Amino acid sequence: MFICTFCQKKYTKWIGKCTCGNWNTIVEEINHPSPSPILEKINQNKETIIQCNVQEFSRVCQLRRESLVIIGGEPGIGKSTLMCHLASNIKGKCLYLAGEEAKFSVEERFKRIKQDLSKTNIINFSDIGSLEKLINKYDPDLIILDSLHTTRSSSKDGPLTQIREVIFFLGELAKKYGTCILCVSHITKDGIIAGPKMLEHMVDIVLYLEGDRYGSLRILRSIKNRFGSTSEAGVFEMMSDGLKEVLNPSALFLSSKRPLIPGSVVFAGISGARPFFVEVQALVNDSNYPQIETIGMEQKRIKMIIAILNQWCNINLSYKDVYVNIVGGVKLVDTSVDLAVAMALMSSFKKRSISGEVCFFGELGLTGEIRRANSEEVRIKEAIRLGFKKIYANSDNSSVVKVNLINNLIKML
Ligand code: TYD
Ligand code: MG
Repeated sequence: MFICTFCQKKYTKWIGKCTCGNWNTIVEEINHPSPSPILEKINQNKETIIQCNVQEFSRVCQLRRESLVIIGGEPGIGKSTLMCHLASNIKGKCLYLAGEEAKFSVEERFKRIKQDLSKTNIINFSDIGSLEKLINKYDPDLIILDSLHTTRSSSKDGPLTQIREVIFFLGELAKKYGTCILCVSHITKDGIIAGPKMLEHMVDIVLYLEGDRYGSLRILRSIKNRFGSTSEAGVFEMMSDGLKEVLNPSALFLSSKRPLIPGSVVFAGISGARPFFVEVQALVNDSNYPQIETIGMEQKRIKMIIAILNQWCNINLSYKDVYVNIVGGVKLVDTSVDLAVAMALMSSFKKRSISGEVCFFGELGLTGEIRRANSEEVRIKEAIRLGFKKIYANSDNSSVVKVNLINNLIKML
């Protein structure tokens, strides 16, 4: 049998293009010997969770023995740097398998970012077949494989089959030796871990490190976590001496006094359980070829907000170029950003600025209503703590200016 590693459709013979539209994603299905339950377990009386002193990482997931974690992200985003921080901040020993860079450059990085190398063994690595021996030699608690794509298996088949075999083998070893294995992987433009989407099913945790490559902010999220929630995000700042944890992200965006410029508003957001305030910017311009460009948000959501403004606020943006940017390279999935986006668009359209001392949250409905948002209290408490004078939302909390229709807010401008 042959199987598409993207959509998992099965075929009796190999073809170049799957009906899901992807080329070269079809590989021969190999019947792996089923993982034998008799695998002798070693390291059995150690704690299940490997303590890790990188709080922003631990917020997102825990390093568990016998588990396999994939971390994806664009080249240059900081995956290897994050791996150094983890290696030197765990309680236990780490084996760092360097395939993407040579051992000495990984060592250099540790030194440059002043991380402790004493508990980490760095090995030049490319052949998965040699891993078991290394585990026996170094007895690591955590293994970092940097990266999945530079690791070969014995298979003579193409790279996708190789990667699958490597993952399969890593899973076996993690269980057998009671270690946690973290694999670094690349992602493609569409944000899918390069090659097989199917790999995500073969591992316990899938993490993404994202952010604006040219900005300094980095956000760590999990899109799959067999042991916990996927709603938390870890925030870091890339500095000249490594990744710095950002324990209070709202302050990062809003600490400096923002100038009053039309098109800029503050969104009182939430990420997982903690407040995450960001600046939303919009620019509305006359255009012969109107287009919508967004960074950090889904374009179809912006289209919907534009349609709502047209219908309920009499603001016609159909002959305009519209740009919306979530500042700091943050990707928002929280729909309660709608109200802030609508205000930023109106503010730019009318060329009237909105005070930097106010913030917004709420999802918009097609009928122009502003919906209630989750975690209201957390947002309000944070807004007060950060010194915002007014909070606009659909809420009965006495600290909030209650609004339930978007057209009630035009008056503000
Ligand atoms: P790296 O961790 O090598 O990224 P990845 O493994 O995801 O490809 O980080 C690469 C970028 O980060 C590189 O362009 C330089 C920058 N960087 C810093 O700004 N400060 C640092 O301390 C380090 C180690 C890297
Ligand atoms: Mg790297």
